[in-house]
Amino acid sequence: MSQSFKIRILTLFPEFFDSPLSTSLTGKAIERGHLEVELVDIRDFATDKHRKCDDIPYGGGAGMVMKPEPLVAALEDAREALPDAPRILLTPQGEPFEQATSVSLADEAGLILVCGRYEGIDERVRQNWIDREISIGDYVLTGGEVAALVVVDSVMRHLPGVLGNQESVTEESFSEGMLEYPQYTRPRSFRGHDVPDILLSGHHENIENWRREKALQRTRERRPDLLDDE
Ligand code: ADE
Repeated sequence: MSQSFKIRILTLFPEFFDSPLSTSLTGKAIERGHLEVELVDIRDFATDKHRKCDDIPYGGGAGMVMKPEPLVAALEDAREALPDAPRILLTPQGEPFEQATSVSLADEAGLILVCGRYEGIDERVRQNWIDREISIGDYVLTGGEVAALVVVDSVMRHLPGVLGNQESVTEESFSEGMLEYPQYTRPRSFRGHDVPDILLSGHHENIENWRREKALQRTRERRPDLLDDE
């Protein structure tokens, strides 16, 4: 089997990741050795008695800034463990995270994900110890942890052996730049709402055409920008 893909996450809240990383497909990918996620508590690299990781901003203002010393020590340690992995800061100021970003990250020699907290990290750390910055959308989260989970979940899906056949096919649809067609399951009639007859016809070609048409219609209605790109 191919070697496991290694992701090291630098965070002040390692316990945040417990349930998401042990559940569902991600849990299975880890259990089966496709993926390895190492959680590193930045606080373990603080050297003072109170293990302080934040401080007040120079120039004044609200909020706290993550101090350079523990964060850089944690980044240096990560570099030693994963010398060729990009050091990625999760921040609303980063490049937008898209399916193509996710596919390309799965090709890297592992990932080092840095979760910012407070009002941000010291600018000198960002400039000298970070390779890339990623945002999962135009909204502000309490910290980079949720964003790191989004990246792990999405990248994991591209690793060899992780997805079964069914899921790979679903994946293809988005790669083709379209939203999914509507899905139905039993019962055939539910509280007066029926499953479209065509899905019960057994005519595979007609079903495929219907699904393609529905996917296109839904994409036109909800995300015309996806079609403009072509
Ligand atoms: N940290 C806080 N908000 C974020 C966002 N939208 N994307 C990535 N990291 C973040």
